[in-house]
Amino acid sequence: MKTVFLISAALTVAAAAVAHGASPRDILPMPAITEVSAGEFRPRSGGISYFAKGCEAIVDSLLAPFAQKAESANEADIIIGHNRNMTDTYIIRIESTGITLGGRDDEGVFYGVQSLIQLLGDSTIACGEVIDRPAFPYRGMHVDVSRHFRPLAFLKKQIDAMALLKMNKMHLHLTDGAGWRMPSESYPRLNSLAAWRPQRRWKDWSDNGATYCSADSPGAYGGFYTKDELRELVRYASERHIEVIPEIEMPGHSEEVIAAYPELSCTGVGGDLCPGKEATFRFIEAILDETMEIFPSHYIHIGGDEASKRSWRECGDCRARMEAEGIADIDGLQSYLIGRAERHVNSRGRCIIGWDEIIDGGLAPNATVMSWRGLTGGIEAMRAGHDVIMTPGEACYLDYTQDAPFKEPESIGGYLPLAKVYAYDPLAGLPADVDTNRLIGLQANLWAEYITDDSHAEYMYYPRTLAIAEIGWSNPRHKDFADFRRRAARMTATLSERGYTTFDIDREYGERPASLQPCRQLALGAKVTYAKRYTSVYPAAGDGTLTDGIRGGWTYQDKKWQGWFSDLDLTVDLGEAKQLHYINTSFMHCPGPGVFLPDSVVISTSADGVSYTEQAVLRQDVAPSYQKIMIKDFGTPVNINARYINIKGIRNKEIGGCLFTDEIVIN
Ligand code: ACM
Ligand code: ZN
Repeated sequence: MKTVFLISAALTVAAAAVAHGASPRDILPMPAITEVSAGEFRPRSGGISYFAKGCEAIVDSLLAPFAQKAESANEADIIIGHNRNMTDTYIIRIESTGITLGGRDDEGVFYGVQSLIQLLGDSTIACGEVIDRPAFPYRGMHVDVSRHFRPLAFLKKQIDAMALLKMNKMHLHLTDGAGWRMPSESYPRLNSLAAWRPQRRWKDWSDNGATYCSADSPGAYGGFYTKDELRELVRYASERHIEVIPEIEMPGHSEEVIAAYPELSCTGVGGDLCPGKEATFRFIEAILDETMEIFPSHYIHIGGDEASKRSWRECGDCRARMEAEGIADIDGLQSYLIGRAERHVNSRGRCIIGWDEIIDGGLAPNATVMSWRGLTGGIEAMRAGHDVIMTPGEACYLDYTQDAPFKEPESIGGYLPLAKVYAYDPLAGLPADVDTNRLIGLQANLWAEYITDDSHAEYMYYPRTLAIAEIGWSNPRHKDFADFRRRAARMTATLSERGYTTFDIDREYGERPASLQPCRQLALGAKVTYAKRYTSVYPAAGDGTLTDGIRGGWTYQDKKWQGWFSDLDLTVDLGEAKQLHYINTSFMHCPGPGVFLPDSVVISTSADGVSYTEQAVLRQDVAPSYQKIMIKDFGTPVNINARYINIKGIRNKEIGGCLFTDEIVIN
């Protein structure tokens, strides 16, 4: 993982001299070693030619848009071949007289050409050398085709982008409550019913009872892949050195399975499979067999996240299973189910990946863990000697909005701009006793509840996936955001020329301005007394939060917003009576995870803390159904001398949810 950048001051000057051409230092992901030297390669007026020996099948189609095939090495500008003695993946040498590219094997040639074609569009290429190898073996992109079924052409298009970015694992989230996308002969209702729903928008579906419909009912939305389509995807990906990893969710996120086969649950309804019933294991094994028959991948993802396990407590079959197997608790029941799935997958020579909940109740012996709830699960799994893929939500969840929510499409919430993805260092925050060789890579996840259209999915992937690709391939510790941003803009332009929808980083608004500087105000450091205490889930910085001069950003996950699962009722004590002119507090609206504005905010003041005068009742004018994230001020001018300020935030009784505020600002 050692990376060396060999650019002397003199060589940098030389590179600057060809600023309008391409340079090895334009490549994304940044190669392990780039050396730029004096001089430039300038194609002849008739265009570039190449000669490939022993790797024509890899090279011809990739280079066709850029160069012509030469009859012999002597006539060619670019010579490409294998160099099987190398330990590096590929080496490119650029001289004024021509370019040579050697790959350690077919994959090395493929990746070398992917780097080369990033340079061939320009009129000149600075001379130099590229020596390259990946930092991590697992560089993944996750596609959620359950929440919205996407056509094969979409998946192939993303495979092309992954290849350009040297990513090598496509994680296909094929099954979830919103729709089953795997072809199944053994359980046909998964395709005739569980793959279809009456509503297109996920939110409409979820708000209208989350029901399913038959494929032939009018307006049925959804679908599933045929075996031929999936085999074609596997073939297409494999030609690009990408493994497609299917995910079959269990035991939670299985509402669609239970709608089609209620007998696989404890009670006939709900989202969890019943680990007490043998029918469940017949189902799991049959589906995993069908899956492994189509996907030759080393890994089979078995989900494992967010099972409610609620019905298991009351279920006679579950209780009998616990007794028979000596299982102490319901986490142990989940572990039992995952363990049986793992044994089945292992018996076919494959290995399972599971979300980090599979640790609860005991980790299956050979499982690889995908750590999504921060780093903790990953650290625990590595300590126990398991491989880990890092996908912490705060750095890798591309369903979070990438810019100020007022200018972005509706989303689940969160705020994850390009700079924050890029800043993620998977090796940071790992304790010294962890064997970092167990950290096999990272993955960009894009959950698609709010992402109906294919073009919207691309918009969320690019350019942030470029940052994940660079962390996975290049030295994850070398961070130079300005340089990455320059190369990302170049790559994003390439992607948009090739027909991808991308976010325009030149039009980025950025973080909420109020959160970027300290807030000067009269109540700074004032004591806050809570008649209704904030939730322990979202305490922010505790009792001092609302008068610490720190405003929250675009997401309540930034630990600057304090939350209540009740009404809010608090009093600020200024320490002495002061002349007040304005009292303001801001609340967040983020309906996806159930964060709503208060129906009303009541502001009162007092000189003695006993008798209060109501200053304003501020009502909100945003419908709870308004889908976009917003931050709304509830403020009032006053002209009063007072020491105590009481604020009440009253929730809408019907929708409940969580209130979030960041600062009581008094001037
Ligand atoms: C997950 O986001 N539930 C893995
Ligand atoms: Zn049960």
